[in-house]
Amino acid sequence: MKPKISIIGAGMTGSTTAHWLAEREIADIVLVDIVEGMPQGKALDMTEAMPVVGKDVSILGTNDYADTKDSDIVIITAGLPRKPGMSREDLLVKNANIVGTVARETYKYSPNAIFLILTNPLDTMTYMTMKVTGIDPRKVIGQAGILDSARMSAFIAMETGVSVENINCYVLGGHGDSMVPLTRHSNIAGVPLNKYLPKEKLDAIVQRTRKGGGEIVGLLKTGSAFYAPSAALAQMAEAILKDKHLIVPCAAYMQGEYGVEGIFFGVPTMLGRNGVEKIIEYELNDEEMAALKVSADAVHKSVEKLKSLVSFE
Ligand code: NAI
Ligand code: 2OP
Repeated sequence: MKPKISIIGAGMTGSTTAHWLAEREIADIVLVDIVEGMPQGKALDMTEAMPVVGKDVSILGTNDYADTKDSDIVIITAGLPRKPGMSREDLLVKNANIVGTVARETYKYSPNAIFLILTNPLDTMTYMTMKVTGIDPRKVIGQAGILDSARMSAFIAMETGVSVENINCYVLGGHGDSMVPLTRHSNIAGVPLNKYLPKEKLDAIVQRTRKGGGEIVGLLKTGSAFYAPSAALAQMAEAILKDKHLIVPCAAYMQGEYGVEGIFFGVPTMLGRNGVEKIIEYELNDEEMAALKVSADAVHKSVEKLKSLVSFE
């Protein structure tokens, strides 16, 4: 029997995650949404694509949480995306309601699952999931850092013409405009970025990375990015199911690492069958630590707002 991954929210990111996962043939997939017929239709369409791509994967679309029973991984993408002019924080009130319900319902049927969260505001919705389920914080992981780092890598590749496979970028911090692209640790095949690009170009890439989500929202107008975020979720799910011990930036529960405590925050994590197996601590200079603190303060503020709206007792 294959492992089972349930994706809650069959919208743009949820269904595209199902697509990337089916291509990887690593798990059977359940796609859940509140909209009747839509997850069923998307799942059937994807099932009909499997003979073309030669993958034996079961993809079930449903509105019933009972179908998610005994999932190895639950992925939460349910919630509103932002529209032009909105910040991720503007989604907090509505998405907290949705994520609270979804987390409770899925936990009932899969108490041993690892939960991957995408819904924005990301760091706060990951915190919410941990609180309402009460599960081991190492088994709740937010997706942001892989996406933000991939954006930076893509911009470096566009500028230098080097293969994306040679570009290693690391973006830490909260999934907001104060995220921290670590230019000193990022490199092209081991060579520091500043040997390839002048400071002004590098600064511009850092700014474009920070605003990367907004750039796509501005272009799409009706929603936000979905190809890259869902590719990131599929990478996380594969690393967990295959117990790869892959080191990637994810939002993990902080217990003093990098001087941050009590929130989910983007840091280099080692992903394996137990979820976050380890948080890796880079040696950061004062400037990098100060930038991380600004970002952590923004996440703390958002979590405080959540706590003023929801009682976790
Ligand atoms: P979407 O609108 O295409 O899909 C969201 C889906 O959630 C809809 O199909 C909706 O019917 C469903 N939904 C709403 N309430 C539900 C409930 N109670 N139970 C089950 N399903 C429910 O939005 P999209 O583009 O898929 O984005 C989803 C979320 O992910 C947004 O909050 C967005 O901001 C966030 N996001 C986060 C990223 C990250 O890097 N952390 C990247 C991309 C999106
Ligand atoms: C992004 O960065 C929407 O947060 C999402 O594209």
